[in-house]
Amino acid sequence: MSRSVLMKVYRGEQGTGALHDYQVPIDDGMVVLDVIHRIQATEAPDLACRWNCKAGKCGSCSAEVNGKPALMCMTRMDTLNQEKPITVEPLQTFPHVRDLVTDVSWNYTVNKKIQPFTPRPKDADGKQRMYQYEVDRVQEFRKCIECFLCQDVCHVLRNHGKHEEFAGPRFMARLASLEMHPLDVADRLKHVKDGAGVGFCNITKCCSEVCPEHIHITDNAIIPLKERVADRFYDPLQMLFRVLGGK
Ligand code: SF4
Ligand code: SF4
Ligand code: FES
Repeated sequence: MSRSVLMKVYRGEQGTGALHDYQVPIDDGMVVLDVIHRIQATEAPDLACRWNCKAGKCGSCSAEVNGKPALMCMTRMDTLNQEKPITVEPLQTFPHVRDLVTDVSWNYTVNKKIQPFTPRPKDADGKQRMYQYEVDRVQEFRKCIECFLCQDVCHVLRNHGKHEEFAGPRFMARLASLEMHPLDVADRLKHVKDGAGVGFCNITKCCSEVCPEHIHITDNAIIPLKERVADRFYDPLQMLFRVLGGK
């Protein structure tokens, strides 16, 4: 059954813009991205938005729907109150480019600072062995689609602008995936503490709440990293052992 919904979509460049009203006829089963495409097809062919897979897997269509970070292609219109205007705005944590598009390249700069996977040498028989429980522990983090919704919602970046000091939840998950990898031998704890700034996180769990892959970023990545940093750098006994061991 076709009906009409008032969409308020952010239009503008470099952060100077405003919400524009579009009265859009919608059909059953539509998602927010469908409605944006309908606006492009009918009223605003120059409306800029980023998307690719329309299946929740490429992480491109991230935006803020009614003020909440979400994938437009996975947000069904029938989950929103259509009696009221529905707002669609760009991510707030990254520099604005145009309309619904932001520049997320800062994330790739952060990623480059992380020491990549560094496997230990193979066993004498040429094989590398892992237990299934070790594989399971890091598997969750590999589901990340780099939508950066978690980065967008994190108040350390969004409200306090600590982009220089804090890598953000997405990269805490990546650091955890490497630090917990059973074959990896690199030591990234100093980077976790100083470069990535794990101490800035105060465990609000907002990042986990918006993750479309339902990764338990706070519980399974950030808290274990915080514990490892505390053990290494703040446990008096370990500090004493390190001093005695000359490390
Ligand atoms: S739990 Fe930490 S990383 Fe996640 S949103 Fe809160 S402060 Fe940011
Ligand atoms: S951890 Fe989740 S919310 Fe963050 S970038 Fe990856 S998939 Fe997106
Ligand atoms: S278009 Fe790929 S995640 Fe939405």
